[in-house]
Amino acid sequence: MKGSKTINVAIFASGKGSNAKKIIEYFANHSFVKISLIVCNNSRAVVLEIASENGIPVLLIEKNQFKENGYLASLQKHKINFIVLAGFLWKIPVVLIDKYPGSIVNIHPALLPDYGGKGMYGMAVHNAVVSNKEKFSGITIHFVDEKYDHGKIILQEKVAIAGDETPESLAEKIHVLEHKWYPRAIEKVLNEYANTERVV
Ligand code: GRF
Repeated sequence: MKGSKTINVAIFASGKGSNAKKIIEYFANHSFVKISLIVCNNSRAVVLEIASENGIPVLLIEKNQFKENGYLASLQKHKINFIVLAGFLWKIPVVLIDKYPGSIVNIHPALLPDYGGKGMYGMAVHNAVVSNKEKFSGITIHFVDEKYDHGKIILQEKVAIAGDETPESLAEKIHVLEHKWYPRAIEKVLNEYANTERVV
């Protein structure tokens, strides 16, 4: 690793935050990765409690301003180097894609490019996978670009779908995979990031 500077990570999450929680736990006491900010668009989201329990500052955001400037100034104030999306549904504005090249990742609860795109999130994904009688589903961790669920794939993990699978049972299986693999995939990307000159 070039230098020994901390990489400050912002997690964008607006729901239950189970992935955010696992990521926070994984990187607690990490040698060079710090979860420095939770960005959220829902003042009642459970992830806010997780942030508070872990002493992580929260940035509550509003849609028009997010579209306009991506809250870039606030992210810079917190010296954010890297962004992790974990259950964040708004499209990331170009201003952030440009300022964080190769430094925004997302997790999708299916095997992209299948079952991705606008409107494909949460139970809508698992409902579609089960009703199409797919044999497998899984998770996709990928870089974020200007299109929904489109950037370069970092990692995919598969899970078999049982004959009597329901969307709910599939959602549980997928969450287990997400919790295991997302923190590890982020660490792998951040190891590579740390070996570039981009750390500020
Ligand atoms: C996850 O299933 C993830 O794939 C998707 O949003 C969900 C977030 O779940 N992007 P949680 O809030 O982390 O429990």
